[in-house]
Amino acid sequence: MTKPPRPRTESQADQARSVRRPAKPEPTPKAELDSLTESEAADQLADLARQIAHHDAAYHTRDAPEIADADYDALRRRNAAIEARFPALIRPDSPSTRIGGAPESGFAKLRHRVPMLSLDNAFGNIEFAEFCARAKRFLGRTEPLTFVAEPKIDGLSINLTYQHGRFVRGATRGDGTEGEDVTANLRTMKSIPETLHGNAPELIEIRGEVFMTKADFLALNQAQAETGAKVFANPRNAAAGSLRQLDVKITAGRPLSLFAYAQGESSEPVAATHWEYLDRLKTWGFDVNPLSRRLGSETDAENFQTDIALQRSGLGYDIDGVVYKIDDLALQRRLGFVGRAPRWAIAWKFPAEQAMTVLRDIRIQVGRTGALTPVAELEPINVGGVLVARATLHNEDEIARKDIRIGDTVVLQRAGDVIPQIVSVVTDRRPDGSKPYVFPELCPACGSNAARPPGEVVRRCTAGLICPAQRVERLIHFVSRPAFDIDGLGDKTIQEFYTEGWLHGPADLFRLPDREAEIAAREGWGKTSARNLSRAIRARRTIPLERFIYALGIRRIGATNARLLARHYASFANWRTQMLAATTIGSDERLQLGSITGIGPSIAEELTDFFGEARNIAALDQLAAELDIQDAAQASGTDSPIAGKIVVFTGTLQTMTRPEAKATAESLGAKVTDSVSKKTDIVIVGADAGSKAHKATELGVRTVTEAEWQDLLG
Ligand code: IVH
Repeated sequence: MTKPPRPRTESQADQARSVRRPAKPEPTPKAELDSLTESEAADQLADLARQIAHHDAAYHTRDAPEIADADYDALRRRNAAIEARFPALIRPDSPSTRIGGAPESGFAKLRHRVPMLSLDNAFGNIEFAEFCARAKRFLGRTEPLTFVAEPKIDGLSINLTYQHGRFVRGATRGDGTEGEDVTANLRTMKSIPETLHGNAPELIEIRGEVFMTKADFLALNQAQAETGAKVFANPRNAAAGSLRQLDVKITAGRPLSLFAYAQGESSEPVAATHWEYLDRLKTWGFDVNPLSRRLGSETDAENFQTDIALQRSGLGYDIDGVVYKIDDLALQRRLGFVGRAPRWAIAWKFPAEQAMTVLRDIRIQVGRTGALTPVAELEPINVGGVLVARATLHNEDEIARKDIRIGDTVVLQRAGDVIPQIVSVVTDRRPDGSKPYVFPELCPACGSNAARPPGEVVRRCTAGLICPAQRVERLIHFVSRPAFDIDGLGDKTIQEFYTEGWLHGPADLFRLPDREAEIAAREGWGKTSARNLSRAIRARRTIPLERFIYALGIRRIGATNARLLARHYASFANWRTQMLAATTIGSDERLQLGSITGIGPSIAEELTDFFGEARNIAALDQLAAELDIQDAAQASGTDSPIAGKIVVFTGTLQTMTRPEAKATAESLGAKVTDSVSKKTDIVIVGADAGSKAHKATELGVRTVTEAEWQDLLG
């Protein structure tokens, strides 16, 4: 694992307010291990192998870790301790002989000529001294060791193969034996030379860490958030997600960097020491971390550790420790490997940056989509060089799980060096009379009902049309192309008119022509543009029912579901009446919603939540009074362009959910299957699509983007 470890957090009550704790989890108590029977040990090893393999895949393959690093390390330590006590029970699939997650993506597999191994960790001076003593004992020497120290970058490791000085192949680490062929993606990176400068062996493999700087990560996330695309949890995940894109163009647009630091196969020796090897890397054209140093003793190494720890928060990229490598390559060869790690190197990890402070209040933010997000308001505190006054509490379940209460003293941590988190509560310091936090069921921005659909963690305000927190977003959606498509009303203009107080709800848009003179007088407008805007607005007073329904921005009612509803209910009046009836009848009978293919229970729930809020009906009626909403033609499945076609959806869809897409396709007469074969007619390729998209291309099956698919449906 390459991310910063997360420490235990209990019993910190007596410590200073700003604390630094080592990340190492408690070792397995010896007494407890001694009392373990052989069959209990075997069961536990099987269970640990399964758990560790699961978390390896989550971390390495899906870039989506599910547990804290410290908890992961604890699982591995427990496994190692049981194996040490019962060596006969070591399993063929033991986690101590495996690294990372096996590749299972759309990329071709590449076997590494020399396995890509991992590093053992040290969490303090004692463990570092033990590492040195072990190495010296093994070599039978007493004189001090010379090390090369390199900051341990939190990214993902890759192997680059050069033949006759040319870059021919590049792979991720994968499970250490086999990785993913990401050659094309790596070629887009400026820091990977296409040809090596100067002399190079006929064949050489160079290894290093691909990473994203903190500034690039924040900018990427901001851009992603603005377009509603995936936001990454930390720079490491952003780097991994950016490199492992099937569409090379996406990788090319992402700011990835590389520091080279190790060698794989080489047709001839290139250096006698690691320090010399780093020099050769620089000559060939690679970036080597400029903070790397050659150190002549253990004491120098300890000083270096402190020095880098002090610089850590000011660096432009995340590091989670320092790697110490014995410099002499002949000694490295003699020392060799044990299990999955070399005897000649160690990763000395930093403690996670933590601090304690008081939770003053919990503020509920209402997002532009109506999501209620709890935010911790904290007594400001310095955590690892950054002043923190706020932290996310994620959602109401998280608050309940950690039993976080206003007035509590909490332990804070910066995860991935960027986003502060509340790790736990110091219950000994809880004020008398404190009460569990009750999450609001009303929207703090507008007072309307905030509903939490079954199975979801997020509570949302149901009054999208009138809620001030959501208004601007809703208005932008309302005038967007697939909705009312009003020319001349861009996001900026909406925001501007909203700030002016002219737009409270969508009905106000149709009153803008009354302000034509005022608009004409505004900076950047003029008579002609103001007149054109009035025309564009008037032209949209007549609107097809499906566009009208879509424009309301009800959650889960994308263009496709809006079309299904419009075709089913035919007229606005009919739709309104039936929906209102649906909010008053029992949930089993929830109108005919269930009978409209594609409208499942969760969508029905969103509709009834919307119609259950009186303020929404008022806004809807005001709007309808401004408009001529045209009836829709009734559905027919046989004359559609996709009738009888076999289709497969792959990747993440942006405008509809997977079940929604499937149901629409089926209602239009297509057959939706899960796997691609020669019989498949069309594959709809969403974002981050994997092997199915590849297979379709291989088999010559037609692939279309989501937008092309929508066009096809008409
Ligand atoms: S050397 C056989 N050097 O740490 C040793 N690794 O925990 C190969 N890492 O997989 C690795 N910075 O992803 C090495 N300067 C550095 C490193 C480094 C980061 C990562 C790398 C490796 C992991 C091992």
